Amino acid sequence: MNNLRIGLGYDCHLLKKEGSCIIGGLKINSELAPQGHSDGDVLLHAICDALLGAAGLDDLGTQFKDSEPKWKNKNSAFFLEESIKQLNNLNLKCISIDCVLICDEPKISPYRESIRQNLSQSLKLDVSRINLKGKTTEVGDKTKIEAHVVALITSA
Ligand code: CDP
Ligand code: ZN
Repeated sequence: MNNLRIGLGYDCHLLKKEGSCIIGGLKINSELAPQGHSDGDVLLHAICDALLGAAGLDDLGTQFKDSEPKWKNKNSAFFLEESIKQLNNLNLKCISIDCVLICDEPKISPYRESIRQNLSQSLKLDVSRINLKGKTTEVGDKTKIEAHVVALITSA
């Protein structure tokens, strides 16, 4: 099969009643918001790490250190664009991603299709090649949100 590679991305952010809740580039109506040095977009961060990992490149935290003031409050769409550029420079492209968000709040299902549409535009992939689902922790844990992502990439 033609140069297929798989990558796994994981990220976790604390949830607090502070700031905007942005997941997968979409503003979500939620009292609780992921906290972070950048905009805290846990899903985009895990997608970047899955793409970079598949390409054998340094992960997001290594490339964009959260101690660097210049990445403070940065829109995570920038990190995704950068990651895609780095893949393109190696003649690699993403062909599908599958994502799981684990949190008890917010509920993901009402936003699932909009987030997939957003990701479809950013990744220039048909929406059928982007999947996303929310899962609860089953213990009512409102302190954090986790994202797990697998990405399949191949030669451009
Ligand atoms: O039933 P199962 O244990 O597989 O899943 P769950 O964690 O109990 O979640 C049930 C359903 O709720 C999921 O399939 C999602 O559709 C939805 N869900 C969501 O939209 N947002 C979350 N943060 C958690 C779950
Ligand atoms: Zn993150």
